[in-house]
Amino acid sequence: MQYKNLGRSGLKVSQLSYGAWVSFGNQLDVKDAKSLLQCCRDHGVNFFDNAEVYANGRAEEIMGQAIRELGWKRSDIVVSTKIFWGGPGPNDKGLSRKHIVEGTKASLKRLDMDYVDLIYCHRPDVSTPIEETVRAMNYVIDHGWAFYWGTSEWSAQQITEAWGVANRLDLVGPIVEQPEYNLLNRHKVESEFLPLYSNYGIGLTTWSPLASGVLTGKYSKGVPPDSRFALENYKNLASRSLVDDVLKKVNGLKPIADELDVPLSQLAIAWCASNPNVSSVITGATKESQSLRVAKGTVPGFRLGHTKSRVELFTRSKQSRYAADLGDIQEVHGGGINMSTVLPGTLQLLWGMIFGDYHEAVNPALSKGTQEVSADPTVPSPANDNLELGLHSTNLARIFGPRLKRGYTREGAALEVFWEQTLGKY
Ligand SMILES: NC(=O)c1ccc[n+]([C@@H]2O[C@H](COP(=O)([O-])OP(=O)(O)OC[C@H]3O[C@@H](n4cnc5c(N)ncnc54)[C@H](OP(=O)(O)O)[C@@H]3O)[C@@H](O)[C@H]2O)c1
Repeated sequence: MQYKNLGRSGLKVSQLSYGAWVSFGNQLDVKDAKSLLQCCRDHGVNFFDNAEVYANGRAEEIMGQAIRELGWKRSDIVVSTKIFWGGPGPNDKGLSRKHIVEGTKASLKRLDMDYVDLIYCHRPDVSTPIEETVRAMNYVIDHGWAFYWGTSEWSAQQITEAWGVANRLDLVGPIVEQPEYNLLNRHKVESEFLPLYSNYGIGLTTWSPLASGVLTGKYSKGVPPDSRFALENYKNLASRSLVDDVLKKVNGLKPIADELDVPLSQLAIAWCASNPNVSSVITGATKESQSLRVAKGTVPGFRLGHTKSRVELFTRSKQSRYAADLGDIQEVHGGGINMSTVLPGTLQLLWGMIFGDYHEAVNPALSKGTQEVSADPTVPSPANDNLELGLHSTNLARIFGPRLKRGYTREGAALEVFWEQTLGKY
């Protein structure tokens, strides 16, 4: 097992780690948890992830009791928890100073620990000023309840804002972000977050490397009765995850894993671990055979490197595949385009191209100019309405480059025609 610094911090985390979501409390009791935790430990895993919301707090109790009964030395392990959803009351959730302090104390009690090594803001809270959250996280650290703090599923813009506050107030900023990252979901880690790694030394502990098990291939022929998606509470997640496009990608990846002579799960986890900005890949497992496989396994770098371009073919986002297929429009002239006149689907598509692989491949120079724009088109931000930041049609022409054939001058028209002509095919 390799140990990597968590971003620019001095904390060393195992490249593969183990988290309690879904399994602890829903699928595993203390006895099962103990054997899985020990199995991970035996293979060098030192980092274990949790959250106040997992099984409504039960996951923290199980992890705490299991670690106590296993008799591990506290300084040998790194334990994290996450604060955001602590209960039904209006002050039991979010990132107010009140909930951060009360939530942290309650988590420590359930874990039966004096401190966690890492504490995350489990989601952004748009109803609380970021300054209040940064100050509260520093309070938690100053009291010794956590050593470092981080975020989970925040945007690059929100993390940048938190760092702005921390620098202005001479406080500690977030050292880590915990995003979803797997072969089916790569945009944030590989595009949006790029400036965060060098500007703030942000490390990543990434979640769902197997997309909840989909990237094992086990759902290709239906839902096995002893699997996550068979659980009543996770039926919604199952219906969102098990869609044709995803299953097609998984089927396309399987022969590549076969050629490498590894299970698809190993290829998927190795892919995440091979990203140098990922400090630790948080895995999940409900059986020892799964966690052993994970622990045994990364695919040797050169073999993975060899197949990377083939893996790309199956995992690039739909948007970049559309972009690669562009051949109908040659040139875009004219003034800026008013975002509000553009079809939502087109907006998403365009966003994917501008922030996604295609954009990087065609025009890396633009990424700097567009960093301040939220990559999520559903998030209202002043920047999203301001096409000067990268969606001005001259930039559009630069982005689409020689593939564009026709010119449109009317606001919005280029995008709408583009939408009809290219997406109509799919
Ligand atoms: N910050 C966040 O918002 C957030 C969100 C989600 C997760 N996380 C963290 O990330 C951790 C990992 O996420 P995850 O559990 O979704 O990871 P994952 O690796 O995508 O999925 C793990 C699940 O896949 C199945 N599986 C794993 N290996 C397998 C194998 N070899 N063969 C067949 N099935 C296999 C198991 O479920 P079954 O056996 O039940 O099918 C296992 O529990 C969580 O525990 C949590 O700590 C964080």
